[in-house]
Amino acid sequence: KYLQEDDLTQECKELLSCLPREKGWVVSHFYQYQGFWHSSRQLQGVIACQQHFQAQDTDILLVTTPKSGTTWLKAILFAIKNRTHYPDMNRHPLLANNPHDLVPFLELKLYVDKQVPNLTFFTSPRLFATHLPFSSLPKSVTCSASKLVYLCRNPMDTFVSLHHFANKLRPPSLGPNILEDVFDMFCRGVCLYGPFWDHVLGYWKESLEKPQKVLFLKYEEMKEEPTIHLKRLAEFMGCPFSQEEETLGVVDEMSRLCSFDNLSSLEVNKNGKLSSGEENKAFFRRGVIAWQQHFQAQDIDILLVTTPKSGTTWLKAI
Ligand code: A3P
Repeated sequence: KYLQEDDLTQECKELLSCLPREKGWVVSHFYQYQGFWHSSRQLQGVIACQQHFQAQDTDILLVTTPKSGTTWLKAILFAIKNRTHYPDMNRHPLLANNPHDLVPFLELKLYVDKQVPNLTFFTSPRLFATHLPFSSLPKSVTCSASKLVYLCRNPMDTFVSLHHFANKLRPPSLGPNILEDVFDMFCRGVCLYGPFWDHVLGYWKESLEKPQKVLFLKYEEMKEEPTIHLKRLAEFMGCPFSQEEETLGVVDEMSRLCSFDNLSSLEVNKNGKLSSGEENKAFFRRGVIAWQQHFQAQDIDILLVTTPKSGTTWLKAI
């Protein structure tokens, strides 16, 4: 729904007419705002959120680029934060709700369509998510003591996941995107919330300068050692697991609850829909680290094609 181009305010239409634009992956155009690419309807939410969202010092914000594992991290953060309310993981809200309905996106849900939502029923510490780049965050987020959890994923898997997702959202009458076309666009930075590396680097730098403010996580490392990262997250969020919880196996149980196999097999995620209209199953495809299989045999050289200073050293290390 947030990708639709109808029902824009006059103010937004005027802004759009002045912004650089490119062909979109789902709807007709992307618009470049503050250096990053957005769909028109989503941009309305970005601006409303920038103007109205008042962060609290206790807020925790999950930040990701689309398709880097947001759904997974939403589930994990929700489970960690609310574990005293829901000690029985056989009767947990995650078993009946998609994580996107439990941890809302600021610009894509709460402030979408220029709404100014009533946030009073969110209890502290409030948990929200956003895809906003660091430089576009509402001022109150950067100025407050709120914390940011950033999740990044290697760009090849992110790209492949985004390609499949966009094709699912595209109106059937348009047919699927051509892989080579969208790959070229992704490399040029023209994708939802792209350029990819600018997004990642904004938070990477901030996490180096302010590690108490930004926790920088990698999808691949979380897949390899989920329990270690659940513990890191709980500590960062200010609610570390106690020795007793660890001994009782709470961390392992939580990791299983949020695993791809578990979440993707739940009825709500197989057949349910978000209030914004997307099918929940669209957020669960393979959930693996696949880029080596995808690219090694054919196009591995792509790994080395980056713009200078866009994070090549880091990518090589990954
Ligand atoms: P693939 O398309 O590679 O399978 P997002 O949540 O940011 O939209 O990202 C979606 C990607 O995360 C999809 O990747 C999806 O399968 C994967 N994913 C969803 N839930 C997951 C989980 N619990 N564990 C690991 N990956 C998960």
